[in-house]
Amino acid sequence: MQTISIDTKNKHYNVYVGSHIYESVLTLYEKQLQKADHVVIFVDEVVAKLHLENLLRPLELISKKAVHVFKLPAGESSKAVETFMACHSFLLEVGCTRKTIAFALGGGASGDVVGFVASTFMRGIPFFQCPTTILAHDSAVGGKTAINHPQGKNMIGSFYQPDAVLFDVSTLSTLPPKEILSGMAEVIKHALISDHRWVEELFSFQTFYEISNDQYLSYLVKGIQVKAAIVEADEFEQSVRKYLNLGHTYGHAIEASTGYGKITHGESVAIGLVISLLLSEKVQSLQKGTARKLFDALCAFGYSFDPVLEHKIDTLIGYMKRDKKSSFGDLHFVLLEQIGQPCMEIVSVKEVLLAHEQLRKWSMEVHK
Ligand SMILES: NC(=O)c1ccc[n+]([C@@H]2O[C@H](COP(=O)([O-])OP(=O)(O)OC[C@H]3O[C@@H](n4cnc5c(N)ncnc54)[C@H](O)[C@@H]3O)[C@@H](O)[C@H]2O)c1
Ligand SMILES: [Zn+2]
Repeated sequence: MQTISIDTKNKHYNVYVGSHIYESVLTLYEKQLQKADHVVIFVDEVVAKLHLENLLRPLELISKKAVHVFKLPAGESSKAVETFMACHSFLLEVGCTRKTIAFALGGGASGDVVGFVASTFMRGIPFFQCPTTILAHDSAVGGKTAINHPQGKNMIGSFYQPDAVLFDVSTLSTLPPKEILSGMAEVIKHALISDHRWVEELFSFQTFYEISNDQYLSYLVKGIQVKAAIVEADEFEQSVRKYLNLGHTYGHAIEASTGYGKITHGESVAIGLVISLLLSEKVQSLQKGTARKLFDALCAFGYSFDPVLEHKIDTLIGYMKRDKKSSFGDLHFVLLEQIGQPCMEIVSVKEVLLAHEQLRKWSMEVHK
């Protein structure tokens, strides 16, 4: 098991990464768990069938109490105000107080909604993140919580750090291939903003299935370390934390236009990464040809660029202007001066249009 510590101004906590780690990690929190008046697991309903028992059993044993379980709708649909209210109602019905501890078991969607519930129930209760997707190596760390508003993703939320993150990587064995692609997009993002050797290593694989379990584990730990360093420097996204949004301005627009849940977050981010690199070659000093290299690698891994062909640029621009990073209608992008050196840049609509056209051409070539 590997332990990564996160030190923000408000909180110090650990991220534990390893296989079958719940029992040994929970033991470290034995006193806190036994002092709680109630312990509640909020779990994605699909994950409940696969992995709930592995958390529930040691948690009941170590906390010395019957643990309450509340099932959340699977995936993105749980990030709705109705689910948020249902979680609060459940906590009230059980008789929870500020001495209650909440657990989030599932992917990034469960983590986001449960984090927001924990940050608002009686103005805040402690919570533990137990991520079960590759993508959640990113979302479970750093304290961003959110639910969606019909007019925009993650529009309602808070910054609220967990007490610990228990990343049992054995849960990843049940992930469908689509979710592996989704999660690996954020791994690639972490590589692009931090280390060119790591990017070269990722590009050298023909498929993700070539990657051994140990390599997976090391990439996840590396991704968490990149995120941890950035979150420690800028917990509330005033400066460098924005770099974690590489690929997200265009990616979120693709995600919103396609319809949440119809395309995964990471699949949209993968497309957005290529746009960011195209823009970086144009308005920054990124070496020419890097975007194409990324595009080819992503196609080989099985990412689809069809959504670029399906959406009008005007619709996408509309979404990009509403992005949380944008101000006064300008388009703000995270770009790369070179691999490992991100920067923020205001980009004109014309440049985005040109990058979109270029990616459309490449995507059409793939279909020929
Ligand atoms: N808070 C942050 O900093 C942050 C960062 C990145 C992404 N996010 C958010 O994370 C969400 C995406 O997270 P995600 O990709 O983990 O998706 P998800 O939580 O929607 O899960 C994806 C699907 O996989 C299933 N699943 C989860 N774990 C499984 C397992 N071990 N085996 C089989 N099936 C499993 C779920 O039921 C769901 O259908 C988005 O809402 C995004 O906005 C948040
Ligand atoms: Zn993301």
